[in-house]
Amino acid sequence: MRISVIGAGYVGLITGACLADLDNEVYCVDVIEEKVRKINNKIPPIYEEGLSELLKKNIGKNLTASTDAENAVKNSDITFIAVGTPGGDDGSINLTYIEESAKSIGKALKEKNNYHVVVVKSTVIPGTTDSVVIPILEEFSGKTAGRDFGVCMNPEFLREGKAIYDFMNPDRIVIGELNKKSGDMIRELYKNFDCPIMRTSLRAAEMIKYASNAFLATKISFINEIANICERTGVDVTEVAKGIGLDRRINPNFLNAGVGFGGSCFPKDVNALVREAKEENYEPVLLNAVLDLNEKQKMRAYEIARDIMDLSGKKIAVLGLAFKEGTDDVRYAPAIPTIEKLLKSGAKIFVYDPEAMENAKGIFGNKVKYCKSIDSALENADLCIIMTEWNDFKEIYDKFSLMKNKIVVDGRRILDPVKAENQGMEYYGIGFPGKQYTR
Ligand code: NAD
Ligand code: UGA
Repeated sequence: MRISVIGAGYVGLITGACLADLDNEVYCVDVIEEKVRKINNKIPPIYEEGLSELLKKNIGKNLTASTDAENAVKNSDITFIAVGTPGGDDGSINLTYIEESAKSIGKALKEKNNYHVVVVKSTVIPGTTDSVVIPILEEFSGKTAGRDFGVCMNPEFLREGKAIYDFMNPDRIVIGELNKKSGDMIRELYKNFDCPIMRTSLRAAEMIKYASNAFLATKISFINEIANICERTGVDVTEVAKGIGLDRRINPNFLNAGVGFGGSCFPKDVNALVREAKEENYEPVLLNAVLDLNEKQKMRAYEIARDIMDLSGKKIAVLGLAFKEGTDDVRYAPAIPTIEKLLKSGAKIFVYDPEAMENAKGIFGNKVKYCKSIDSALENADLCIIMTEWNDFKEIYDKFSLMKNKIVVDGRRILDPVKAENQGMEYYGIGFPGKQYTR
């Protein structure tokens, strides 16, 4: 099929590259010329496992990037809107990029004769496709949605770092449809996917996306709350997560206690759902608690460090800046407020992350030292804090000998406390009944 994708960020570029790899003809569109140039030169503008290979394979064949949305829409039968919907301080989402995209698509639809389907893939509050996107498409095309062109809402559930795997192997595909004809076209596009495909209304599809992220965020805040109780009751939370995860109704996923959830989605989406509930005069008690707990949890590694030693003048190695492993994304990463607090305490910060160093430079400038390796961050350090669950950090036991004081705060519970202590380390971890209460 002929596809255009407006917005070539995490979601748009992965969608475009994967659909091209599945033998569709794809046009990716972005307003940032540099991004478009990189994609056409087969250079991934973001770090994502497997993306470089997909670009090398499909650019020049059936995948092209451009800044010309109207042309891309005219040359395709289905257009995905995958632009950002950033959150504001009050939890509201900014629909400017959605509106701009809808205008360009509407203008192109005016000159099209075939039945074109517009698909909202960005995460939007229930009712947005109906009350914002469709009216703009109709106004700028002079046509009627449903009759002259189709509209669907197809939320995306991919995780950064595993985006290509998740897109290609989804647990389910949700197709919200304005009418059957629109939904049939998108169903056809996904015909080779081996997973349940749920067809529903536009509004339900929009809500399914928010409810999925809110549930996953709740699972994380839940296990973090249990972790905080465990620390005080002499129980290791990883044992508890294992024990409850064996119940099939609970399942073992998303029960890793740590310094809380970050990233461009959970914080933004749960805040947006809270705001939406309040707009509808409903006080979302549980979701508010999920967010409150997460805010506190982000500072947990810092608090443990502060309780261990006077941080002023100390050399602290911070391993991990990205909000999670497998990405260079530092948006809402728990490492950011942690480092800010450490700096305020007068500590000297030496950071290392396998992928996120460039993005972190935009935040910390020259306030921290950027190290080229784990070794150079740890050398002569008084304390090591692990903030991201990178695989590279899981087997660093023999590197601890480089430190001045062999003390580690494991903010992601990725080290084995027994192995660490066998190396002479003083080990502290989230949800680990450690010395933080006995020192
Ligand atoms: P992003 O910021 O990485 O990418 C958005 C892209 O859209 C940018 O490159 C921007 O330049 C481009 N853009 C903005 N306005 C444009 C326009 N008028 N025409 C063409 N391009 C335009 O965002 P993202 O992380 O890909 O997220 C996109 C949407 O998908 C959001 O609603 C997000 O909540 C949702 N989502 C994201 C993820 C994720 O893991 N990042 C997963 C699922 C859903
Ligand atoms: C999340 C969802 O997992 C995706 O399904 C969804 O599509 C996406 O948001 C979105 O809507 O954008 P993502 O933010 O990329 O994906 O990353 P996750 O793997 O979900 O991790 C989010 C945060 O939770 C990270 O900071 C991670 O460290 C933390 N986390 C995750 C935990 O603290 N514990 C866990 O057990 C799992």
